Amino acid sequence: MSYVVGVDLGTSAVKVMLMNKQGEVVKEASKSYPLIQEKSGYSEQDPEEWVEKTKQALQEIAQENAELVANIEGVSFSGQMHGLVLLDESHHVLRPAILWNDTRTTKQCRDIYEAVGEEKLLQYTKNPALEGFTLPKILWVKENEPAIFEKAAVFLLPKDYLRFRMTGELHMDYSDAAGTLLLNISDKTWSDEMCDALGLDVDICPPLIESHGYVGNVSDVFAKESGLSTETKVFAGGADNACGAIGTGILTEGKTLCSIGTSGVVLSYEPRSDLDFGGKVHYFNHGEENAYYTMGVTLAAGYSLSWFKDVFAEEEDFSTFVQDVDSVPVGANGLIFTPYLVGERTPHADSVIRASFIGMDASHERKDFVRAVLEGITFSLCESIEIFREGGKTINTIVSIGGGAKNETWLQMQADIFNAEVQKMASEQGPGVGAAMLAAYGCGWYDSLEQCANEWLEVVKTYQPNPDAVEKYKELFSIYKDVYQQTKSLNERVQQYRK
Ligand code: XUL
Repeated sequence: MSYVVGVDLGTSAVKVMLMNKQGEVVKEASKSYPLIQEKSGYSEQDPEEWVEKTKQALQEIAQENAELVANIEGVSFSGQMHGLVLLDESHHVLRPAILWNDTRTTKQCRDIYEAVGEEKLLQYTKNPALEGFTLPKILWVKENEPAIFEKAAVFLLPKDYLRFRMTGELHMDYSDAAGTLLLNISDKTWSDEMCDALGLDVDICPPLIESHGYVGNVSDVFAKESGLSTETKVFAGGADNACGAIGTGILTEGKTLCSIGTSGVVLSYEPRSDLDFGGKVHYFNHGEENAYYTMGVTLAAGYSLSWFKDVFAEEEDFSTFVQDVDSVPVGANGLIFTPYLVGERTPHADSVIRASFIGMDASHERKDFVRAVLEGITFSLCESIEIFREGGKTINTIVSIGGGAKNETWLQMQADIFNAEVQKMASEQGPGVGAAMLAAYGCGWYDSLEQCANEWLEVVKTYQPNPDAVEKYKELFSIYKDVYQQTKSLNERVQQYRK
């Protein structure tokens, strides 16, 4: 019997999954690590923690299952995106990693626009300059910690550093490199133009590789410390969003993922690199060779619902809290919610905007509010879908995972608001499965990732749009979109009274 391992290096924990040829999770182990938040807006992690905790998770699996571990053919990775790991000439870590959710780099984003220009930035990288991306973090270190920057020989992203420690080889795959803002995503080369404009030596960028690319075997040292075998092959892996897409079968044109966690992501497969979304959504290389995906992010998706429950129904369990929303008609009896509790990313990159309930009436009951919150979150995700469609993409099938897939009414609501078939999966294992699929494909178990997805993944239920509801939601969506414009300046004025 042969196995592969998917290592999901997340922001709060690493999850290691051992999978067999039937795509079943045979064993899994997870170890958490802390965030270092020295100042408001700072978010860092010690790369050594990623390595140690991954070793511990692998040891846990190896101790109980020595025989299984000897039969692991391949390992691959899913990684939290954008985090900056700086290494010196001898490949030692120079400072703690600056993570994707660190927002200290607003000035550096402005500097990028000034040095490169908005149009050229989109031409070279297809993406806007956002605080979370890697390039602004590199520029921050250059400006604020020049003595450290002087010693920097190469930078890596989180899972690339872990893989380096596992194999001794330095690489970055295209799906993660796309989130640095230094990759020309169409040419799949590091952008000399971006490096020149910002005074960076292109040699600071590591060698590029495909996500299923073989980088080497597990090293002697890492094998001894983790319990893995040196016979096990290591494959590059991908960004967590790319791996999440692979692990839910978003591998053909028209297929889209709606994932509702604390934040919400709408991510759509894209075979071409030359569509123009004006930087309103992210446009990244996929973990599948020569494919792409577009992605929009709602910052407070599941968070809007949990916020509402915590404030107004703290004692209640979640299923009771949402159980009567299906008795409320489409449009929540004239109540509209915008989910801007912590500002927004897509389609409005706006840190000042805040949420609203519009149309509150003396007849409204709590269940109307709950339905309005669900509809508002879904409208927000629909704004990303609308941008995709306006940019020329076909969105006809949407796989729904996370909180949005746990409630029948919400699944049907997604079908009606998105005007697309919504699919629910038999099991959701997240980006770790995508990582394991990259290892399985890399090992030659399948001819393509799509073939692997067909074997491993199963849709259990589909929800078709109801034409009546689709029409009503079209009208409500246009009102919903106006709320942002109408409340923007009010929020700017009220901002000074916030905590
Ligand atoms: C994507 C992003 C997050 C991280 C989380 O642009 O910032 O989804 O990938 O790891």
